[in-house]
Amino acid sequence: MKEKVKKAFQERYKHQPSLIVRSPGRVNIIGEHTDYNDGFVLPAAIDKAAYFAIALRDDEEIHLAAEDLNETFSASVNELKPVGDVSWPNYILGAAAQFQKLNIRMKGFNAVLCSDVPIGAGLSSSAAVECAVIFALNELLQTKLDKFTMIKMAQKTEHEFAGVMCGIMDMFASLMGKKDHLIKLDCRSLEYEYVPLKLEGIKIVLLNTNVKHSLASSEYNTRRAECKQAVEWVKQHEPQVNSLRDVTEYMLDKYVLPKSELVDKRSRFIVQEIQRLQQGCEDLEKGNIKALGKKMFATHEGLSGLYDVSCRELDFLVDFVKNNDAVIGARMMGGGFGGCTINLVKEHEIEKLITAVQPAYEAAMHLPLTYYMAGVEDGTSMT
Ligand code: GLA
Repeated sequence: MKEKVKKAFQERYKHQPSLIVRSPGRVNIIGEHTDYNDGFVLPAAIDKAAYFAIALRDDEEIHLAAEDLNETFSASVNELKPVGDVSWPNYILGAAAQFQKLNIRMKGFNAVLCSDVPIGAGLSSSAAVECAVIFALNELLQTKLDKFTMIKMAQKTEHEFAGVMCGIMDMFASLMGKKDHLIKLDCRSLEYEYVPLKLEGIKIVLLNTNVKHSLASSEYNTRRAECKQAVEWVKQHEPQVNSLRDVTEYMLDKYVLPKSELVDKRSRFIVQEIQRLQQGCEDLEKGNIKALGKKMFATHEGLSGLYDVSCRELDFLVDFVKNNDAVIGARMMGGGFGGCTINLVKEHEIEKLITAVQPAYEAAMHLPLTYYMAGVEDGTSMT
């Protein structure tokens, strides 16, 4: 990939890039939709990444190329705003705009982007690009920003240029990832801990539904609003409560359920999921992967039945593997409405599983099923 992006840069711009940054996608073992509720998440950076080659220019022009899509885009640093008809330039322009917001003088640049993070698969391909661009500009402009600032800038890029009010998990995982470790992140304090990922004989397998239903981002923002509503109702009686992190199921019974069954279902999932992650971490510490796997199935049930962010394709894949002894745990991953399921699978049984699930999925859903092994790698860095 590095050679590919370097060669593409040279061919397009007839000079060398000043630097090439690699920034990975992510998986998340458990703790879904908890990040914007001040809860915990358990992600890891993976061995699929965006590669961003860049050199500053002497003028104020920005020239971009997405090598995999064979598309180019131009803009000026004097007019950085979201563009409507294509998505990928937004991640780059939005990232550059964050520097201006900090009153840092932006310069023009030439850049080429390549990525092997599958798009729309729930592996945070956009966060990977945002983090790559911010990391690269921080180097080239010598702004010496710390990683926390860069993570927040990447999150703002997604809010302001992609219109998705995402939490902080994806960017945190991409920038802070550590080889063979999960990150247990407290999304309220941003305190974090690297948890060694010891999965002897077990691999992380991602099954891609190859759908991304169009309601993904609007429903995501709706879920955020529903969670906020629950907090407001509880807070009227319990003023110390600031997020669903502070809420118990008892409070939901008393203050939310009587008002709205729907809001109760949404917030109940989050309250349970925050707890489930804590217990899942204990399982990991004890090396009890089986117990963790069971919790992943429970998370899927909640995401599907209570939080309502799954879809028939994701449910099919989780149901299919549920009674298979080779699969320790499985659930939909990420925002939902398509993308991948994450599966913990006994290594020597992976081939057999794929041979069974692929034709079954394709026959039932009339869609191709693709799959990836996810290795856990370091976060954003210069290559
Ligand atoms: C998307 C968002 C994250 C997180 C997940 C759900 O990936 O970008 O911030 O909310 O969905 O856990």
